[in-house]
Amino acid sequence: MQSTVPNTMARGDLRVAKFHTPEIIVGSGALAEVPAAALGLGMKRLMIVADRGIVATPWYPEVADRLRAAGLVVSSFSDISPNPRAPEISAAFEHYEMRRCDGIVAVGGGSVIDAAKGVAILASNGGHILEYEGIDRAQVPLPPLVAAPTTAGSGSDVSQFCIVNDVDRMTKVTIIGRALVPDVAIVDPQALRTLSPEVAAQSGMDAITHCIEAYASIAHSRLTDSAALAAIATGWHSIERFVGNPADERAGTDMAYAALEAGMAFTNAILGATHAMSHPVGGRCDAPHGAINAVLLPHVIRYNAAADPSPYVDLAAAVGLSAAGSPHAIADRFATAVGRLAAAVGLPTGLGSLGVRADDLPLLTELALRDACMRTNPRRPTPDDVARIYREAL
Ligand SMILES: [Fe+2]
Repeated sequence: MQSTVPNTMARGDLRVAKFHTPEIIVGSGALAEVPAAALGLGMKRLMIVADRGIVATPWYPEVADRLRAAGLVVSSFSDISPNPRAPEISAAFEHYEMRRCDGIVAVGGGSVIDAAKGVAILASNGGHILEYEGIDRAQVPLPPLVAAPTTAGSGSDVSQFCIVNDVDRMTKVTIIGRALVPDVAIVDPQALRTLSPEVAAQSGMDAITHCIEAYASIAHSRLTDSAALAAIATGWHSIERFVGNPADERAGTDMAYAALEAGMAFTNAILGATHAMSHPVGGRCDAPHGAINAVLLPHVIRYNAAADPSPYVDLAAAVGLSAAGSPHAIADRFATAVGRLAAAVGLPTGLGSLGVRADDLPLLTELALRDACMRTNPRRPTPDDVARIYREAL
């Protein structure tokens, strides 16, 4: 019988690895801890970054009222789109400067938290947000940032990633740097109760993509491996129940933990070709990030597994798939199961339905190969490889 325990010695754990996370406060009712976190970081005049959807939920007034009751001066900026755009970050930064703020509390999904990171970069480093594309370009320490996610998926509350929509070039820009890890992540599963099933599915499949890409990444370590395997085991078995009823406390708590651990894994291991290929599609079609990932992921798994199926054998075991057959057969079955799971939660199965056309593929291919996430993909793709994966996913 095949072992279900990953062979960590064979997975390169003789390398030096670092593991960086914020202070994490997690559990039902954790939002009550936001004022103590803000005060502990020395904030006096803070800006809440949210979006229009969040402002209409109970979570925004709960956080704002608690912060004011704690004696903090609070202003807010909520003009943020689902894929945050560079001009929105410039406008939010102007607001931050005009109100002479000294810290940021982000309440929302990945887009809101990424926009907050963008403001924090500009507050201490100046310039324009798109100048920071790439790795470690923001060198001056950022003002304090508390992140309270209201979706279970992006992992931005614990990650060193900030994704910005470059509307002129119609692509998404990946900004990575250790300075971008928030100071405190406050993960309250109660805040997931107001999610729509559609966003629950998109963000949940994003979290599952993070587990798979972090585990297969060339920058993985034992610490990221254990987080990724725990997260996929939890998320895989909770996502359908959660999408069926985002107010289900048990499923919401499981998905909150899955997204959190997946975030801890991928911020340290980085990602791979799914995210590298997803970002240009998101910029071109303004389609939901998690839905694009879910379409691309089975194709990327098959492409990577043709060279080395072993990470996917471990992941298949973690979600309870049969260990029968060759490693290549198990990896192929895992890719099929990922596609089935995405379909079961109502996500599309082709990029065409998200607005991608065949004549977009040359530009998408060029942009995907330049994305920072491509560097840690376990297989080095040629332009022809990337174009073929896009074509298969159409
Ligand atoms: Fe993602």
